[in-house]
Amino acid sequence: MSEQNEKPAPPSEAATSVAAAATASSSNEENTKDDATIAAWWNAMEQLTSVFGFSQEVAQQAVEAVGVDVTQAYNYILDNNLAADKGGPVVPIQDCPHVKEHVRLLPHQLPHPKSATCHYNAEQKDSKDQKGQAKSEILQDGTCPPGENWLCLQCAAVGCSRYVNAHGVVHYEESVKEDGGEDGAGHCIAASLADLSVWCHACQAYLRHPDLDPLIKKLEQLKFDSDEDSEAETNNEQVIFENEQVAITADVEKLRDTKSSDNEEVDSMSTQHDEETENVGRGIPFIFDGLVEAEAPPITYPFGSLPTDLKGVADFIQSENCKSIVVLAGAGMSVVSGIPDFRSHGGLYDTLDPSLLTASDVEREAMRADPTAALEQGMFIQNPLPCLELMRPFILGTRDQQWKATLAHRFVELLHSKTGKLKRLYTQNIDGLEGQCTKLPRDKVVAVHGSMDQCHCAICGTTSDFNRFCDQVQSNIKDITQADPTAPKESTPVRCQVCNFAAVKPTIVLFRSPLPQEFFQRAPEDILEVDLLIVIGTSLAVAPVNTLVYRVPQTALRVVVNREPVGYRLGMMYGQDAKRDYFAQGDCDRGLLDLMTHLGWLEDLAPLMDSLPQASSDMLKDRLAEVTGTSNSETK
Ligand code: OAD
Ligand code: ZN
Repeated sequence: MSEQNEKPAPPSEAATSVAAAATASSSNEENTKDDATIAAWWNAMEQLTSVFGFSQEVAQQAVEAVGVDVTQAYNYILDNNLAADKGGPVVPIQDCPHVKEHVRLLPHQLPHPKSATCHYNAEQKDSKDQKGQAKSEILQDGTCPPGENWLCLQCAAVGCSRYVNAHGVVHYEESVKEDGGEDGAGHCIAASLADLSVWCHACQAYLRHPDLDPLIKKLEQLKFDSDEDSEAETNNEQVIFENEQVAITADVEKLRDTKSSDNEEVDSMSTQHDEETENVGRGIPFIFDGLVEAEAPPITYPFGSLPTDLKGVADFIQSENCKSIVVLAGAGMSVVSGIPDFRSHGGLYDTLDPSLLTASDVEREAMRADPTAALEQGMFIQNPLPCLELMRPFILGTRDQQWKATLAHRFVELLHSKTGKLKRLYTQNIDGLEGQCTKLPRDKVVAVHGSMDQCHCAICGTTSDFNRFCDQVQSNIKDITQADPTAPKESTPVRCQVCNFAAVKPTIVLFRSPLPQEFFQRAPEDILEVDLLIVIGTSLAVAPVNTLVYRVPQTALRVVVNREPVGYRLGMMYGQDAKRDYFAQGDCDRGLLDLMTHLGWLEDLAPLMDSLPQASSDMLKDRLAEVTGTSNSETK
């Protein structure tokens, strides 16, 4: 796997000529076209090597033969037997949203990994016909030959791998058609009985998830014990195979026994289901469908009853039951310092005028239809100018330290220094204000969408000097706000000193490009024991960071400080229906100042008065006067 992490080698002459041929007709046109082709080459190589795990040599051979379409290259590799199909991305994902609904088996219901064989019966023609001819020969008793088998973790059906007759995939596809469940994903999660890896058909990825651990541990146990047993019993392969056939039947019987003794009612449901299965001629029976739907135990919330005001939130923060706090922040947090957000009236997307940007008609149309197109990685590589023109004021403002940390930033800083309970701040903001203006330790912050204060090349990855980049942005990129009289009238690209492509950009995460590794490394662990999630100034519109709101434990209190309620589609509920979501409506500086007042942190804020944005500073001044006034009148 080590080669996966290495950068692909530069394009060979042949590959470059494939790329060149693709644009031959327009080879004299602007350089960005060539850049885009080369970028596509890099992208294909990157995906084939790091996502699909093929070696560089194999990836390159495929790209040279069929071009940069990853699917075609992938098929070429398999068709020509250049490498084994790894079945999709080899890096396991940790945030599969399907685990909760679609993993239903309990450890004691697992079949023996060594003895389970494909449940598909060739006599049931329908599903075979759907898939066309069986790939491997069906045995005389109508079963698939031995090979890797996959266990459905929802219903315990076993289906053979795509190298045998792909009945694991058939099972999944049929379950989606039949009744995909609330999310429509069907029986999407399966464990390989060969290497015990777990695959999600819906995510098309291998998984890691704490809920899977007990199952995998049990399978390991079974497999390990049986390895020892079989070694002790015999070394005749054929005999083992026969024993396995017997053991399968015994295992299926055992599963059914467990089922009936566990729950009579459920068993009758299963029989009914099996009958239906036969009626529709489905290949693999859905053994445990609906069987292990346990009654959800009542939840004990560490916060007791849901707070009804910010005083209640403050009390919980200070209580012993609240041990770990995660903050999820967005653009609303910095608005008062003068940086517009994205999606509000007057925000970056609302005010984006494609006619001001250096772009083709097609590109302008794309941005008109969806302003986020201006911040797409693909668009940037094709034409970096719209993005740089939009970002110019923010790039130069970052260099000039134009903005001040707000009361919301100070709240997070104090949350750490006063309580020691801040596990992490996950910020979508690229302004870097928490690093630049507060004493929050660097390791407490994960900037999930990168930051504005560094730059790199989107093609070769080389980082370059930020000040030099800013000088180039200032001299090369026009100012669409027309505030800078020294700005050029027309933009010219900023080229990378190493690869010479016009692809230097701030280290921000553009749409359709990966988040920093730090997010994937930190988040799964951070969220495990969260008692309080505070969401500040974000529309929660962007994945995957918005998944944090439903990945924190079910017992965690979620407090949202925002102008309007957000997160309904992520399962947040306010008002009468609320169970663990508290909504503090309004500007976050005001809401968090109220909260800090309840927490008794005003005197920690007082010395920061001059380093706050004007509006925040005024608000704090008033609050201090009010509180002193109150306490004065109280003492009178
Ligand atoms: P959005 O603009 O989508 O949402 C900002 C939210 O903050 C909205 O719900 C506003 O109502 C609210 N808001 C604005 N000002 C506020 C204030 N003073 N007090 C309280 N709430 C306020 O910004 P994000 O959610 O941060 O990504 O956007 C997420 C991502 O989308 C960004 O990181 C960026 C963008 O495209 C990339 O560029 C990749
Ligand atoms: Zn470069």
